[in-house]
Amino acid sequence: MPDLAAHIRDVPVNQIREITEAAWGIPHAIVLSIGEPGFALPRHVLEAGMACLDRDETNYTPNAGVPALREAFADRFREQHGVDVGAERVYIVAGAQQGLHLAMSLLLSAGDEILIPNPGYPTFAMTSRLLHAVPVGYPLYPQYDFQPRIEDIEALVTPQTKVLMLNSPSNPLGAVLGEDLTRRLVELARRHDLWIISDECYEAFTYDVPHVSPVRFDSDAPGEARVFTSLTLSKTYGLTGLRIGALVCPPGLEKKMNNVMESIVSCVASPSQYAAIAALTGPQDYVRETYAHYRANRDAASAVLASKGIPYLSAQGAFYLWADVSHVSGGNVRSWVRQFLAESGVSFAPGTAFGSIGEGWIRIALCGAPEELVEGVGRLPARLTPPGEPMQGEQEVQREQLPKWGKESLVQRPAEP
Ligand SMILES: Cc1ncc(COP(=O)(O)O)c(C=O)c1O
Repeated sequence: MPDLAAHIRDVPVNQIREITEAAWGIPHAIVLSIGEPGFALPRHVLEAGMACLDRDETNYTPNAGVPALREAFADRFREQHGVDVGAERVYIVAGAQQGLHLAMSLLLSAGDEILIPNPGYPTFAMTSRLLHAVPVGYPLYPQYDFQPRIEDIEALVTPQTKVLMLNSPSNPLGAVLGEDLTRRLVELARRHDLWIISDECYEAFTYDVPHVSPVRFDSDAPGEARVFTSLTLSKTYGLTGLRIGALVCPPGLEKKMNNVMESIVSCVASPSQYAAIAALTGPQDYVRETYAHYRANRDAASAVLASKGIPYLSAQGAFYLWADVSHVSGGNVRSWVRQFLAESGVSFAPGTAFGSIGEGWIRIALCGAPEELVEGVGRLPARLTPPGEPMQGEQEVQREQLPKWGKESLVQRPAEP
């Protein structure tokens, strides 16, 4: 057999899949390791997809998607962000993952560097590697509420750096970038002439804080604009299996995008596109109900963690909780989650699935039934912090260079005795 492409071995293993597939093999396991909404889908959305099949409208669509769907995304974008991107800048893609691949394929040559969050969503590194580019993690430290610092990012910029990847609300952290920081990140990209890819998968789910899209601070002039916005209906409407989303691009790139799209998937399946039009333009009860569900789950799981003395980051968005289990994980959280699954029948995503700073942390998915969530989180061993014992994160990053955890911190820790 001939060799596989040499760089394929550099594409990292997805540790979320690794633990989740192990959990699916265990009867009655509580699976809190994957972010898959499990609600019945809105009927009008399913019917729109089926009506497309009934009409036998099953041919290729334009590369960029059917015009009515591009319009629907552009309208939604205008309502949400007050930015008029026009349908011609909206590219329909097979889910956010394909949108990320499309944007990276357009922007990255072999050896180019892309700055990605650490901790951050695993495919940011996987897709970069697949394209022969070099992912460089910018640190998100617990001491700064896992928010990026301009100086940390700037220190990593080299002549090879082409792209800055942002993700707010964040998977796995549930952290949200505020308006001021978002503006400063766009300014940083302008200063160093970088593209931005902004992954906004969870834009519909922020709790008591607004979602701010970097595109608000971008120029709209061709040649000046630098922000790609990645959107999906996988989370907002639970349409994970229909593979449908959009990439909002800077102006003037449509012809080039057509070529790249043609060489990847040509276009997205037409029933998915019609279902998406119904989702965006029809009743929004599904979004309201799931929002309330995630929020209630977040509060319930946070209360269980607090009662056990387990530090966690207060989630301001998305549907995950990021919790510190360094009191039990023994410096190898990837192996600990396997052991915990075998002993307790509950799966969590190991923090290392998202980068080195995730060592000692787990991500808890908040999508499922509240009873299972509370039961699963309730099986975590309590943390009885002896006075003076360092918390995880303080061990990981050079502690002396960082300020003490502030009173205002979003990282909830047990009170010091
Ligand atoms: C941050 C982030 N980006 C992209 C994706 C991929 O989403 P999609 O199902 O739309 O491809 C996910 C899915 O979990 C995600 O969390």
